[in-house]
Amino acid sequence: APDPFIEKLIASLSLEEKAGQLSLYADLTRPDFGNVNPAAVAQTKDEVKARIRRGEITGLFNGIGVAGARELQKVAVEESPHKIPLIFAADIIHGLRTTFPVPLGEAAAWDADLAYRTARAAAIEATAVGLHWTFAPMVDIARDQRWGRVVEGAGEDTYLGNVLAVARVKGFQGNDLKDGRNMLACLKHFAAYGAVQGGMEYNTVDIPETTLWETHLPPFKAGLDAGCLSVMSSFNDISGVPATANRHLLTEILREQWGFRGLVVSDYTSEEELILHGYAADGRDATKKAIMAGCDMSMQSGLYFKHLPSLVKDGEVPQAVLDEAVRRVLRVKKALGLFDNPYRSMDAKREKADVRSDGIVALSREAGRRSIVLLRNEGNLLPLAKTGKKIALIGPLGADRHNLPGPWSVFPDRAKGVTIEEGLRAVVKDPAAITVVKGVDFEAAIPGGIDAAVAAAKASDIVVLAMGEAENMSGEAQARTDISLPAPQLALIEAVKATGKPTVLLLRHGRALALTGGAREADAILATWFLGSETGNAIADILFGDYAPSGRLPVSFPQASGQQPYYYNHRITGRPQIDPKVKEYKARYREVTNEALYPFGYGLTYSTIEYGPTMVSAPELGWDATLTISAEIANTGPRDADEVVQLYIHDKVASLVQPIRQLKGFKRISLKAGERKRVEFTLSRADLAFVHPDLKPAAEPGAFNVWLAPSAVGGTPAEFTLKA
Ligand code: IFM
Repeated sequence: APDPFIEKLIASLSLEEKAGQLSLYADLTRPDFGNVNPAAVAQTKDEVKARIRRGEITGLFNGIGVAGARELQKVAVEESPHKIPLIFAADIIHGLRTTFPVPLGEAAAWDADLAYRTARAAAIEATAVGLHWTFAPMVDIARDQRWGRVVEGAGEDTYLGNVLAVARVKGFQGNDLKDGRNMLACLKHFAAYGAVQGGMEYNTVDIPETTLWETHLPPFKAGLDAGCLSVMSSFNDISGVPATANRHLLTEILREQWGFRGLVVSDYTSEEELILHGYAADGRDATKKAIMAGCDMSMQSGLYFKHLPSLVKDGEVPQAVLDEAVRRVLRVKKALGLFDNPYRSMDAKREKADVRSDGIVALSREAGRRSIVLLRNEGNLLPLAKTGKKIALIGPLGADRHNLPGPWSVFPDRAKGVTIEEGLRAVVKDPAAITVVKGVDFEAAIPGGIDAAVAAAKASDIVVLAMGEAENMSGEAQARTDISLPAPQLALIEAVKATGKPTVLLLRHGRALALTGGAREADAILATWFLGSETGNAIADILFGDYAPSGRLPVSFPQASGQQPYYYNHRITGRPQIDPKVKEYKARYREVTNEALYPFGYGLTYSTIEYGPTMVSAPELGWDATLTISAEIANTGPRDADEVVQLYIHDKVASLVQPIRQLKGFKRISLKAGERKRVEFTLSRADLAFVHPDLKPAAEPGAFNVWLAPSAVGGTPAEFTLKA
């Protein structure tokens, strides 16, 4: 039903004010802004205020601070023609001042509750500094690790992506959006941005509509069903139509099929980029194409403000289209409670109390240690003893503080980040027991660096190699053709390995890496992603055994870069290489077998976990019935541990070739040393459905395999039949 307040307001606005409500700009007037293309925006505070006063701006993004927000809000609600409050937004992707693990890292915790809690904590910090809206969560499914923005999402799997999308939306938005500690979430980037060809940023996307619906759209739908009220269009085109002007995506799917009532914002100048795509002739044409497709708000280009009034006057954009976009924006502002209290989330006391509170910092450490994945632990080298051993901490990351937060952290409090060295020293009390040598830079040799590292290794009992990607080696526009460690780091590993000392490799990365040479041979390997503020403490918790590793890979680690795109749930070819010894005329590469080095879902702990056979409660599943799938999981080792039990299915014969396995559920359980538990899942027809050419999900009767497994390749399958 129409909202009388909003309808009356719309009726009173001039065309220019309406266009203003659809125009969002980067905030260049306040400190801490770090990512700007200054073109097209007013840069001084007076200019911005003048524009607000004239009703030309709906809100500002990526500026923070209560005092500045209040100052600008006051102009909007006291001096602009219709006193419409501004909305303040920012990229709060994995924390504000306190940073949490990058979303890909946190996905390795396979823990919806953790994702919910870190999003809540981020919302509390962000709303304490005057923000209402985060451009998160990023829910793009990414199956090509060359793409730099893999780091911002939940990885390669749609099921895991759905679970984490819901958790993050609920965490940001809370129960009541009007509450000043909750913020509007934004599902991005709509759609299929993670499917850019060759993993190259901003590249074209060419996927069948069935893949769009099966793989890329579900996390958006899940997030919308969880109540998310905003969506950001993506930079890419899909099959020739740029997402920001894609009526099929933004109107037919989002509005007509899914009933979305929130707002769509373009990505940074993406409506202007329609010109460079060759999809629009000029700014006016770009504006028309974007708004007619269903993109409500323009980010940063200024084109909507410039062209919408005349487009409407000339009859090229119907007044009703403009009004509907404004209605969506005003509805969201109202849902945030901005008309009742424009100064919500602008409380100077909260700005002091709720930023880097003890609880939030402790949560960052918890999230950090739970995101770490133990990939290898030869001879149970880990955990390390806290005393009596000399440790050489070698590599560009040991003492590094700058790169702790990771990509897309716009406002991190870098100075307060805990380095790996500091984390280790907090546990190993003897200062002389730890020697720190950089050895090489991320991508360059240091004269004499390797010699110094080798000398330190020789003088130690254990070497901890802290290596991987710098913050600017993953993230937006950081596509790589080669996802292995840079050559100087590999040379350092080889030299250190040659000393014969036991080595622990601590990897930092925003994507899956291809581990080659000595990197593959380290005695112990930990995938530690970018863990944020508490990196050093979280790593020390794991290294010295105060916390048993419990993370699982949300992306497959391939054997070689050239295998990309590489993902566990690929379809089966007509010539699969079942026996690696049979090489001719099989779907394979010459140099490596098809197996992952470390598969999706994989991760070790400090104990041993054994799986009993997968059991099904009946050989047949009735059309509207359920089956219970169970297995006994035993902790047969000496330490308590968490296990992530994963449920996979495979449809053996179907009208479309099906993935070799598909994740359909997971449960995290805790097992004391020696303990056994039977873990049960319920499976119904809906879990067996796949998207058909009519784009509707449906299950087909017939035989299925099902596994309860510790990873996408483990476990023993059971079989059942879905009855017609
Ligand atoms: O939210 C981001 C988006 O993910 C990439 N382009 C810029 C936006 C705003 O900072």
